[in-house]
Amino acid sequence: MTQSTFKTPSSPLNDIDVAAIRRDFPVLHQEVNGHPLVYLDNAASSQKPVQVIEAIDHYYRMDNANVHRGVHRLSQRATDAYEGARSKVRQFVNAKSDKEIVFVRGATEAVNLIAQSFVRPNIEPGDEILISYLEHHANIVPWQMLCEQTGAKLNVIPMLESGELDLSGFDSLLTDKTKIMAVGQVSNALGTVNPVKEMIAKAKAKGIPVLIDGAQAVPHMQVDVQDLDCDFYVFSGHKMFAPTGIGAFYGKQSLLEAMPPWQGGGDMILSVSFEHTEYNAVPYKFEAGTPHIAGAIGLGAAIDYMQSIGIANITAYEHALLSYATEKVSAMADVRIIGTAQNKASVLSFMIEDVHPHDVGTIFDQQGVAIRAGHHCAQPVMQFYGIAATARASFAFYNTEQEVDSLIKAIKTTQELFA
Ligand code: ALA
Repeated sequence: MTQSTFKTPSSPLNDIDVAAIRRDFPVLHQEVNGHPLVYLDNAASSQKPVQVIEAIDHYYRMDNANVHRGVHRLSQRATDAYEGARSKVRQFVNAKSDKEIVFVRGATEAVNLIAQSFVRPNIEPGDEILISYLEHHANIVPWQMLCEQTGAKLNVIPMLESGELDLSGFDSLLTDKTKIMAVGQVSNALGTVNPVKEMIAKAKAKGIPVLIDGAQAVPHMQVDVQDLDCDFYVFSGHKMFAPTGIGAFYGKQSLLEAMPPWQGGGDMILSVSFEHTEYNAVPYKFEAGTPHIAGAIGLGAAIDYMQSIGIANITAYEHALLSYATEKVSAMADVRIIGTAQNKASVLSFMIEDVHPHDVGTIFDQQGVAIRAGHHCAQPVMQFYGIAATARASFAFYNTEQEVDSLIKAIKTTQELFA
């Protein structure tokens, strides 16, 4: 992308130079089933700009070596790039120290790590874990497993028809037995943006630690973990234009220092004998084995890329695009939007009357339009609405109004085929 990406801001849709941005994403320039690809499955996985691809390529071509272990030049360069990426993540979420940033495979691994390493040592039968109805399975199942292991109880913040959380009874769910509140900032199935700052403040006032699942938030909005005052914040790289298999979590340094390691192995130790092992300092205590070095470097490049556009510009642009799509779809007969929260990010889930979402997905694909059809790893949300699945379009900053028009055309074609 060139420097001159900003235009006169008459509308947020003009705030960024989408044509220039799209040139950075090689995968977008192809035909699918004889149609230009319209990629609207960003909540599942986003595409990668050439800057990220080249950062990975450079590491493998020039710097490939293990980190933290070698005195030779390549190992030093690999270590500098890996630790440089950690600093970028720290700055991206505004953590106080690089020691508070742990590289993991993704948000799923982070939730499992925190459940087992932070909560499990301090939980007893009858204690409670608080999540919400809107959670992705990754922020449900690890807690259910922990409840099975310990005899703790899983409590769930209910939801409303709009797809917003029902916070009317929230205070009474925060009890002296609550060992952690773990909630998503943005719902992957509906796009609802939860009022996490207010929720965190209430939990913290009662001394309850808080984990925020930010997997669907970091691609779309500025995140400041100090301002939120959460204890843990987890996210994946692949939804924010970085490779798969890499993610990171923030944890307050004092908490990380008090937690036992999750996995044992190389790099997470200071010394090992058969009698005793001395663990490494944070964050290395949680990074056993050779990490995904190229992935971390790619994540750092993705952060650079997003910041070159400007996170506020991304938020405003995507908000305008989602409003445009919502307006168009709302005006269509026999199409129902699932999830109508006041505050939404990037996601438009919908049902076409009398057409199964999987058929919708297949017909869309024939027109080159990639969406996700299914339960979106959020089956409780589907159960709430009494449906098995939705069709879901999810947007990124490289999507355009013309692509929204292709989505509308695909809905019309589907309706005609099933008329
Ligand atoms: N969590 C991903 C999604 O929402 C896979 O599609």
